Amino acid sequence: MAETVLVTGGMGYIGSHTTVEFLNKGYNVIIVDNLGNSSIEVLDGIYKICGQKPVFYNVDVTNYQQLSSVFKSHPEINSVIHFAAWKAVGESVEQPLKYYNNNLGGMSNLLQVMQENGCQNLVFSSSCTVYGQPDVLPVTEQAPIKEALSPYGFTKQVCETMIKDVIASNMSVRAIALRYFNPIGAHKSAEIGELPNGVPNNLIPFVTQTAYGIRKELMIFGDDYNTPDGTAVRDYIHVTDLALAHIAAIERLIESRNANDFEVFNVGTGTGNSVLEIVKTFEQVTAQKLNYKIVGRRAGDIEQVWADTAVAERELNWTAKLSLADSLESAWKWENNYRKNIEK
Ligand code: UD1
Repeated sequence: MAETVLVTGGMGYIGSHTTVEFLNKGYNVIIVDNLGNSSIEVLDGIYKICGQKPVFYNVDVTNYQQLSSVFKSHPEINSVIHFAAWKAVGESVEQPLKYYNNNLGGMSNLLQVMQENGCQNLVFSSSCTVYGQPDVLPVTEQAPIKEALSPYGFTKQVCETMIKDVIASNMSVRAIALRYFNPIGAHKSAEIGELPNGVPNNLIPFVTQTAYGIRKELMIFGDDYNTPDGTAVRDYIHVTDLALAHIAAIERLIESRNANDFEVFNVGTGTGNSVLEIVKTFEQVTAQKLNYKIVGRRAGDIEQVWADTAVAERELNWTAKLSLADSLESAWKWENNYRKNIEK
């Protein structure tokens, strides 16, 4: 019998790419999503890629009754990947309670419902934001958790602690938190990708929208950092590689290969790239000229971070395979395909 995975937030950017990889591997997928930052058309994109649709429930993870009834209807659910959360750093500073209610309330409900239904395996979508500006690079999982710079970042730290505490209290759950670095790119088919609402906050959607002519120019936030070219450095990972890390994590739990009941792994490429390197690589792979200007630093940004991926490679037997050029090319293909469809 094929395993069933419940994917909360499965209609979102990372959730939809992860759903595709699970379906391609023969898993049954059930999605719970409130469509708060995604659209029902994502199901069509998944269908075009996989030839099948996951089971979909328009349910908010903060709604205990509804979440509970999904578990009651599907006693076969023994594994959950929890993506459902708000994720805009700036918005979290303006509306902290929106983030605390949803990200923490959803986590608490999910753990309770998993416990009540004897559901064992959990993979949680965490972030390298928990490290703040690390003292040592590349950053390992042992690096200290620094004071969060935003309510969004704080919710990631608290969710990891909630999971740890609940497991320590004797709950039969075992969990893996994946600390993502900067996910970018889109499925190679360009049928699914990132769908930012309004003006993008993140670099790559801003780059592709500028190249497409929707934005006048990219603003590069700061060129006076202590980095080789002065612009900030991040570890950009292709979303499909990231999706595959979730399969590796769930299989580790299903096969009881986990060393502890709560584990954390960095999920990045192990390479840092500056904002200017992103711009140059984008221009090379897409043959587009990008308008940009250097402006002041963005509040709350760290200077540089990239992952030490040795533990993920060893324990999950997973490594990022796609290049920065692959990521940027796929993001550009997705932007074009998406615009073509909405302009129809
Ligand atoms: C942030 C979060 C991360 C979260 C991610 C997704 C922090 C510290 N980081 O990552 O946890 O998972 O968002 O929402 O909370 N840049 C520009 N111009 C732009 C946009 C970005 O120069 O128009 C620069 C930024 O200054 C940064 C880099 O590009 O150096 C990447 O920015 P972004 O894509 O927003 O991701 P992070 O801030 O690294």
